[in-house]
Amino acid sequence: MSEPKVVLGVSGGIAAYKACELLRRLSESGHDVRVVPTASALHFVGAATWSALSGNPVSTEVWDDVHEVPHVRIGQHADLVVVAPATADTLARAAHGLADDLLTNTLLTARCPVVFAPAMHTEMWEHPATQENVATLRRRGAVVIEPAVGRLTGVDTGKGRLPDPAEIFEVCRRVLARGATGPDLAGRHVVVSAGGTREPLDPVRFLGNRSSGKQGYALARTAAARGARVTLVAANTALPDPAGVDVVRVGTAVQLREAVLKAAADADAVVMAAAVADFRPAAYATGKIKKKDDQEPEPIVLVRNPDVLAEISAGRARSGQVIVGFAAETDDVLANGRAKLARKGCDLLVVNEVGERKTFGAEENEAVVLGADGSETPVPHGPKEALAETVWDLVKARLA
Ligand code: CTP
Repeated sequence: MSEPKVVLGVSGGIAAYKACELLRRLSESGHDVRVVPTASALHFVGAATWSALSGNPVSTEVWDDVHEVPHVRIGQHADLVVVAPATADTLARAAHGLADDLLTNTLLTARCPVVFAPAMHTEMWEHPATQENVATLRRRGAVVIEPAVGRLTGVDTGKGRLPDPAEIFEVCRRVLARGATGPDLAGRHVVVSAGGTREPLDPVRFLGNRSSGKQGYALARTAAARGARVTLVAANTALPDPAGVDVVRVGTAVQLREAVLKAAADADAVVMAAAVADFRPAAYATGKIKKKDDQEPEPIVLVRNPDVLAEISAGRARSGQVIVGFAAETDDVLANGRAKLARKGCDLLVVNEVGERKTFGAEENEAVVLGADGSETPVPHGPKEALAETVWDLVKARLA
């Protein structure tokens, strides 16, 4: 098999220098990369750098090597086009089908998956014009990964940073691996909760659980690579933000509820992978609870937390919204799972068996996905990513 052909479009933003790292990763992992910069991108990184790193000719215009019809050929032969960074201007030109340079011509002729990694100032990203252009591109099937939050060109910070090149590379790898199936969740908004809530007792102590967040993060990453806009509600995780995902950090079950309800308002699917505490201490001590040598400790009184999964299932924000729960069981796994599915009112319930060394913090997982329609999909022992893909396949079937 020949090397997969990747077109790396680079538009004119300071983050263009980070595309060199993306190019390196793509070339070193066996892709034939053709860089197509815009004229303004060359103000940041010159053609010699792109050509040397890719081993291919570089031009910005359709007027070079006209006999080879590059404005049609490059796009037609590509297995993937990734535009990183994608400026507000490039997104606008792509959304409107303009074709005034080699990159925009390539975008019009490409029939392969297209990934945009936008980078710009926060105001430009948030402007309704940009947001509408992004929505248009997503509706047409492009993968537009959410910019990261952090330091921008100057001293200012905010949303608009180009995600880490290693993360963009991961998205590209996953999109390429899907081949002809392509980004089948493009145009959809999905919400994933991950991690474990912590219920504070006093300023230094909390009641928590062992959830690492890895399964929820795998769900978020795979959905992003399948083209979805992803909101990840992360409770107390120590994992790096997946590229292209909006991360909302929360601590307690009450905070998680608020964040999930807000994001679910316009979501096509909600997957509750977080381990949410069923109870919280009835009282919070504003000062550290001290031990007293001559007294037994006070009992901890608990009150119930809201059941977020049951609440969003009962009052779906949109008709046809697909809701997925997780259940960690130690005994009678399937029977308990069926009963829980009915109790919670969700569409799918991923049931896995937990124990001393099972599931929590592990890289692998094994589960059965129960459907409210009576279906039962076993997922053999394997990476958490594989379980995530199965969950999205089942969600996709119910969205259609
Ligand atoms: N969940 C939730 N809100 C809660 C507790 C749990 O949304 N307060 C969600 C979890 O995110 C998960 C599912 O419900 O998707 C299953 O959680 P689990 O704690 O196993 O269910 P319970 O109904 O609490 O059952 P159990 O009796 O096993 O504790």
